[in-house]
Amino acid sequence: MKRSRPILLIHGGAGRRAITVAQAACVESALAEGHRLLIAGAPALGVVEEAIRRLEESGLFNAGRGSNRQLDGVRRMDASIMEGRELRAGAVASIERIIHPVTAARLVMEKTAHVLLVGQSATRFADYFGLERVPRAKRTAEPQPKDLRPRAGVSRTLRLHQAIMNTGRLRAKSLGKETVGAVALDLSGTVAAGASTGGVDVMLPGRVGDTPLIGCGVYADNEAGAVSMTGLGESIIRVAVAKEITDWLATGLSPVAAANRVLRKVVERVHGDAGVLVLSPDGRFTIRHSTPHMVAGAIGPDGRPIVRGRFA
Ligand code: GLY
Repeated sequence: MKRSRPILLIHGGAGRRAITVAQAACVESALAEGHRLLIAGAPALGVVEEAIRRLEESGLFNAGRGSNRQLDGVRRMDASIMEGRELRAGAVASIERIIHPVTAARLVMEKTAHVLLVGQSATRFADYFGLERVPRAKRTAEPQPKDLRPRAGVSRTLRLHQAIMNTGRLRAKSLGKETVGAVALDLSGTVAAGASTGGVDVMLPGRVGDTPLIGCGVYADNEAGAVSMTGLGESIIRVAVAKEITDWLATGLSPVAAANRVLRKVVERVHGDAGVLVLSPDGRFTIRHSTPHMVAGAIGPDGRPIVRGRFA
């Protein structure tokens, strides 16, 4: 059987902020460990999950421990994971208090006949499987963003959201600390993709972005490739970016050309912003973004991690 050259790409979000030393170190160690696992024969799905768990755990990104709060002061997180051999996928949306939503997404994929669980039912599902929770003390000790209205009702949060929307701040504010994700190709030639997020900065309670929507925030198909997204979820959803990119890969377009083409559509057609990891089953890959910065990295040809805060 022909063996593929293992590839792993990880992102810590596309946005306005430059990469920090701590973020670069976190992505680099996740890449090194994930690549070691792939070389040893680990499946792409588990390597993607493990890489995302490290970033969720770190508190350095808008995912897991570092997740944003919605306008009522509650953290509601989204995550998804997909493998490309049988097109199996799992996702959670608006899950609360769980450090590793990506693992909850994998459990949805492996333990149920469904693809997506939401809200309190998703949280209870994760609790049933004993997934680790954010300790209560840590949740309340943190400084709160000044726009946040703890326990605010619909009328107050909607007024605040609309006021921010009208001043045009939503897009700018929505590009701070960002979503995390990964794509991988394993020795057997299977690709996988995943992503995890605390959403955007100024969101109504119950808002869900692209991350848990298969075909928007992630997609993986051994016959086309794997994609993991970051950026403004509303614009990514409207273009169904991940599936559109893999559809272009399936026509023979290169990862760079497919990514550039669809990112241009996000900017020109829906005035959004996004960043993307694209991996084709033959091992070609690219990292592209329309935002000023994107925290991401890959294992280079010499087997060493390359992590940067900007890509061409
Ligand atoms: N891309 C993450 C979100 O918009 O929720």
